[in-house]
Amino acid sequence: MLLVVGNIRGADGGSPIRWTVVSGSVACPAARVALAWSVGGRSLAGMVSDLVECARAVAEVRLVSLPRRWAHVQGVAARASDVAAALDCPHSAEIVAAAWLHDVGYSETVAMSGFHPVDGALFARAEGFPEHVVSLIAFHTGAEEEAAERGLSDSLSLFAAPEAGDLDVVTFSDLTTSVDGAPIGADARVAEILDRYGPEDPVHRAVSASAPRLLASARRVEALLASAG
Ligand SMILES: [Fe+2]
Repeated sequence: MLLVVGNIRGADGGSPIRWTVVSGSVACPAARVALAWSVGGRSLAGMVSDLVECARAVAEVRLVSLPRRWAHVQGVAARASDVAAALDCPHSAEIVAAAWLHDVGYSETVAMSGFHPVDGALFARAEGFPEHVVSLIAFHTGAEEEAAERGLSDSLSLFAAPEAGDLDVVTFSDLTTSVDGAPIGADARVAEILDRYGPEDPVHRAVSASAPRLLASARRVEALLASAG
């Protein structure tokens, strides 16, 4: 049992409310955790927020200073939410949480190696997010090819490969959302990335290598959406 905070004041400004984590994460204060607290000898129990809201809040804190990136991330999360609902994905909360956090590694307060999927995944793990969310962040949108291009393939071995269908949804959502958060076709998005990063940039070379796999991922999700009606 871990003490989280002990200085929240009651509504009357009187006795501090003592929060004690009895299960779940302590690193992310808004994560889904079961709490027990006592005020003046009374005991209550409750839940704090949910996984998706936690991911959104953490992403906003880290990315709001990057307005264009934050706009993109909001678009990706909205897309992932719509797709996961349409496909009735069993791990929809993890998928949408990963969509909120997939680019958190770009935050200057998070970046360490400069390889944003791994930086973001390590950050999310340290924040207490579930390993399924962490692995989706680590492997999203061609991360394997970019890791190879940067000589950082070993860094991905820190994470288990995510469930392929869930990764498809995160990657599809990223590929069909522009840098400004607007809907875009996957082919146009890949072309835009190749144009934005010059031929000598590792991102350009990595996306050139991963494009067939990325577009196949998008096609699989499009087919599932079409069959789901
Ligand atoms: Fe992205």
